[in-house]
This record gives sequence, structure tokens and C-alpha cells, in this order.
Amino acid sequence: NVNGVEFAVADLALADRGRTQIRLAEHEMPGLMAVRREYAAARPLRGARIGGSLHMTVQTAVLIETLVALGAEVRWASCNIFSTQDEAAAAVVVGAGTVDAPAGTPVFAWKGETLEEYWWCADQIFRFPGGQGPNLLVDDGGDATLLVHRGVAYEAKGEVPAPGPDDPREYGYLLATLARSLEEDGQRFTRIAAGMRGVTEETTAGVTGLYRLARAGELLFPAINVNDSVTKSKFDNKYGIRHSLVDGINRATDVMLAGKLAVVCGYGDVGKGATQSLRGQGARVVVTEIDPICALQAAMDGLDVVRLEDVVERADLVITTTGNTGIVLVEHLARMKHNAILGNVGHFDDEIDMAGLAQVPGIVRTEIKPQVHEWRFPDGHAVIVLSEGRLLNLGNATGHPSFVMSNSFANQTLAQLELFTKPDEYDRAVYRLPKHLDEKVARLHLDALGVRLTELRPEQAEYIGVEVAGPYKPEHYRY
Ligand code: NAI
Repeated sequence: NVNGVEFAVADLALADRGRTQIRLAEHEMPGLMAVRREYAAARPLRGARIGGSLHMTVQTAVLIETLVALGAEVRWASCNIFSTQDEAAAAVVVGAGTVDAPAGTPVFAWKGETLEEYWWCADQIFRFPGGQGPNLLVDDGGDATLLVHRGVAYEAKGEVPAPGPDDPREYGYLLATLARSLEEDGQRFTRIAAGMRGVTEETTAGVTGLYRLARAGELLFPAINVNDSVTKSKFDNKYGIRHSLVDGINRATDVMLAGKLAVVCGYGDVGKGATQSLRGQGARVVVTEIDPICALQAAMDGLDVVRLEDVVERADLVITTTGNTGIVLVEHLARMKHNAILGNVGHFDDEIDMAGLAQVPGIVRTEIKPQVHEWRFPDGHAVIVLSEGRLLNLGNATGHPSFVMSNSFANQTLAQLELFTKPDEYDRAVYRLPKHLDEKVARLHLDALGVRLTELRPEQAEYIGVEVAGPYKPEHYRY
């Protein structure tokens, strides 16, 4: 706590560098900045206390400062141990103040957190001054939502269990964080959940968890699925990855991609972007899928659809995009070419069996540079793993570029406004933003690209059965 601003970041002296990058990002985020201008005078988020758990990048800094400009109090952590851009975190903390007298927003995030530190940071977004919790969450991947839901469950039982043998490694730290909380105040998360107006979730992985909670009748507050706004998943997941996947691989390895055989596991939105990214470099891309529709799409896009076990010996590169678990197993890694590259752009680090890899007898892990590791098998062949199996586009590069994140974060801001200003319209269920807002987000990005939209004439609107001002498509339309 310096000058009344709490924070835990790598180095406040990086703030100037962060601020210049934020200034450039603002220019590349026309939609988000338009939303900021539209609501800055009315400050409709006054009284909102927003806890954010989302990659602490330059683009996220623009989101945070938009939420603050709309009147919210904000506390922020990253949703990934490697994704923070330290200069962005510093700039948000310093705000309009100075390094010695910061006047910005509390951030608890630095690049290269341990898992223990990660969950400590996650808990800090629930600690607003005066013992208050947040009344809104911005979540990416569901960790903040998980913390509240587990917290409430254990407070009801009066104890936190020990991690089970099948729990992922990081659950031990999550449970330790909750045990400390329970000791400190046995009703802390129960009170926070009761005051919560809702969560807006950024990504596919987190959305899956929200629908699961809702189906089980266990969702404690309303949720907006931001991921499935068309202007989010059909842009960020696809065009964002098309930019940031190759960016991450290049910064990590600088390996020539042209001519190499790349396997992309999963041909959903992220997989489609990943494929385009690698093909753009001249890599020969083949795809794996479990869904016949996506497999057929891949085939008709001109790609071989294969099984991993049939190509793993020939692959120069394997990229996972499934959001599933156990996609690349140790038995695959053991058969790969020397110095084949492994990377994940799904959400969690178990798409590639990192835990299993570490247990291979005689395996030797050598750090080539931060977030790039060589794992040498006893037979002498090695594989190169990026970002320890976590999101390589954020760990090895700086994530998606500003323009596409402007779409995602304009959706986030509109979703926060919905939950905060219309609490009576949302139950304990998972919602999507209405289509007119989705179209609004797209519209806010057209001018910057010089797009001249054709205006529907009234008789044309009547002919196709829509309003002149939209929405232009039925809910079931797939884009
Ligand atoms: P999606 O559901 O559109 O695509 C995933 C695809 O993987 C599906 O088509 C599914 O059939 C396929 N799949 C599932 N299990 C498989 C298996 N065993 N083998 C082969 N294919 C399999 O989801 P989306 O939006 O593409 O997201 C995927 C993951 O990427 C999620 O975890 C999401 O949270 C994450 N994500 C990461 C981003 C990043 O910046 N790195 C950005 C956006 C999303």
C-alpha cells in the first residue's frame, strides 16, 4: 500500500513504458474507447466494485481504465501465471500519479508467478477496502468464480478438505488459500456471494464451467457468457489466435515454419485461427478432431484430418486448441522427432500432459530461456515445450493485438453495465448479450477500417423481415 493504492507488481518504475503502450493501444481499440466516451459523463458503474481475473496485458489496462472511467472501483489479478505484461500492470497502478505516489488501480499480478502466489493474487481481488468484497466479477477461465463457489461450499461445511489424489496440482494452493480465508472469517465468501450482481466470463473454458454450475443448480449469481457474443469468439478466438500463435512460436523459438508439418488439435474457433496462422507461414497443417462437423469443415477447407498417433513421429510442431484434457500424452511425446515443438493455446496446462512428462524416469528439463524448455528423454531425443504447457500466445508473446481485444472488451464492458444497472433482469443463470449489442460492438469498429456499410432500405428490411436498425439475423444464425 503506497499512497493509499494497494498493489503487488514486478516494478512500478516500468509504468512510463506501460503508459506509452497503453496510449497506442487506445488508438487501436476504437470500440472500447467509444463505449468509454458514451458512458463517461453518466458514470453508470458508480457503486460497482469489480474484481477482475484476466490476463494483465496492455489491452486489459485499457479495459480496467474504461471500467474506472465509468465509475467503478476495480481490483485486478491475472488469470495466468505467465501472461502479465509487467509494464502494463505498473502503469495501471501508477495511473495519473507518480511512481512515488501512485494514484491508479490496485493490481496484483506479475509475469512468472508461482502457483501459490497466483492464488494469493486471485484472493486479493476479493478484498476491497473496509472488508468489502466485489459486487461484480470479470473472469477469464473461471478461477475467480471457482474461488467464490468453493469458498461458499466450504464455509457451509465449516472446513476445507485436503486435495484429492486426482485434483490438479494447483488445487492444493487454491484449497490452502480458502483454508486461510475460513480461519480468518467463516462467512467471508458467503457474504461476498450474497452481494454479487454477477460475473461476465471471457473464454470458452470458463463458460463451460458456468453452464455446468447452472445445470447443477449451483450457480450463486447471474452470469453473462461474453465468449459467445459473435464479436468475441468469432473474432478474438479466431483472428486473435491467427495473429498471436505464430507471434508466440517465433519469439520463443525463431524456428522456420515454412515447410514444417504442424498438427493442430481441435478445429473450433481457436483451431481455425491457429491453422490459418501456421498456413500463412507456409507450414503444412493437419488437424485432429472428435466432432464430425468440425472434421468435415477441416477437410473441406483442404486439410488432412488425422489421428495424432498416426502422424506424431513426423510432426515438427503440435499445437493444442481443444480446451479439453489429455490431448498430447507422454506416449506421444516419447515418439516425437528430436526438437519437435509443443505448444498449447487452449486454456489449461493439462492439454499436454505436463505432469506426466515431469515423471518420466530419467527425463532432463533444461531452460533454454524463460518459458522455453527442452525436455530430453533418456534415449537422447528432446521436445521443446513452450510456456510449460500454458497459453503460449500470452506466455511467449503478448497475447492478442489491441484491435481484436477492443471487440472482446467492448462486450465485457457492456455486459458489466447490464448486470450492474439491470439487476432485476438477471437470475442465477447464464445469459448472452442481446444481438443488438453484438451488432453495436461490430459497428463501433467499422470506421477505423474504412468500412462503408450498405444501408438497408425500408422495403428491403420488410422483404427479409428485419428492422432497418437491426438485429439483422435470427438467434440461430451461425455466422
Ligand atoms: P471450440 O469448442 O470452438 O473448439 C474446440 C474444438 O476442440 C472443438 O471443435 C472440439 O470438438 C475439439 N476437441 C475436443 N476434444 C478434442 C480431442 N480430444 N481431440 C481433438 N479435438 C478435440 O472452442 P474454442 O473457442 O476454439 O476454444 C478452445 C480453447 O481455447 C478453450 O479452452 C478456450 O478457453 C481457449 N481460448 C484461448 C485463447 C488464447 O488466447 N489462447 C483465446 C480464446 C479461447
